[in-house]
Amino acid sequence: MSNVDIPATPRRSLWSKHKFFETNSIILIIGVLLVISIGGLVEIAPLFYLQNTIEKVEGMRPYTPLELAGRAIYVREGCYLCHSQMIRPLRDEVERYGHYSLAAESMYDKPFQWGSKRTGPDLARVGGKYSDDWQARHLGDPRSLVPQSIMPGYPFLTNTELSYDDIAAELKANRSGGVPYSDEMIERAMDDLRAQATPDHPGQSAFEKRYPKAQARDFDGNPKRISEADALIAYLQMLGTLVDFKLYNDKANIR
Ligand code: HEC
Repeated sequence: MSNVDIPATPRRSLWSKHKFFETNSIILIIGVLLVISIGGLVEIAPLFYLQNTIEKVEGMRPYTPLELAGRAIYVREGCYLCHSQMIRPLRDEVERYGHYSLAAESMYDKPFQWGSKRTGPDLARVGGKYSDDWQARHLGDPRSLVPQSIMPGYPFLTNTELSYDDIAAELKANRSGGVPYSDEMIERAMDDLRAQATPDHPGQSAFEKRYPKAQARDFDGNPKRISEADALIAYLQMLGTLVDFKLYNDKANIR
């Protein structure tokens, strides 16, 4: 036969160990996932403990009980499917909507309302853009004010009484997620909700002390009862109004 010398076992170089991965697809997949996750961990993990992940901004406060109830309706009705609350630092966005959104402005949002899906305009700074009456009519029948609008109407909101028996529990749940509601805020949640939506309510000044810059009045045009529209409009009218951007820019030396 031939006298070619074939070694019984090939010489084991470092690279030949790679064969182990290449011939075991499961091991290869686990290896790939491990390598990819290192990059993810290095980028994401520090965000959970760094103090400066969210820049401290003056003016931010937890939502009032009424605003929180309005926000729950916003999420329930799927307003976020057409509206984002995130103004990007791009010239066209800033000229249309106002100062770009800061991380601190969403720090009490659970879940947050960022996004890029904009069938309708961004709502991060819609507070104060229109009157309460405009908001109530627009929510009930958008085409009565904007004839070409494709936004659906929500006429039932003004006729539906707001259910807020569980509002204190709602605040408590938010607190366990890191929102700094005090014991007093949780205890007074029910009264604070009524105080914000009822004109001349005796609890209004104590309420306004707990929640600076809160707007207290009847929002839906019917002062006799607290409707879902009251809560939703209170929430919309607050959006983007808490941070004083003149002060913020002066401090950050931005003109
Ligand atoms: C199918 C998509 C869609 C949904 C869902 C939707 N909207 Fe809209 N929205 C629009 C469009 C389009 C406009 C712009 C035309 C107009 O003003 O009606 C708009 C406009 C608005 C405006 C005026 C914004 C501005 O700056 O002029 C507000 C406020 C608003 N929507 C609130 C809501 C709320 C609150 C909900 C949920 C209850 C909601 N929208 C659900 C599409 C939608």
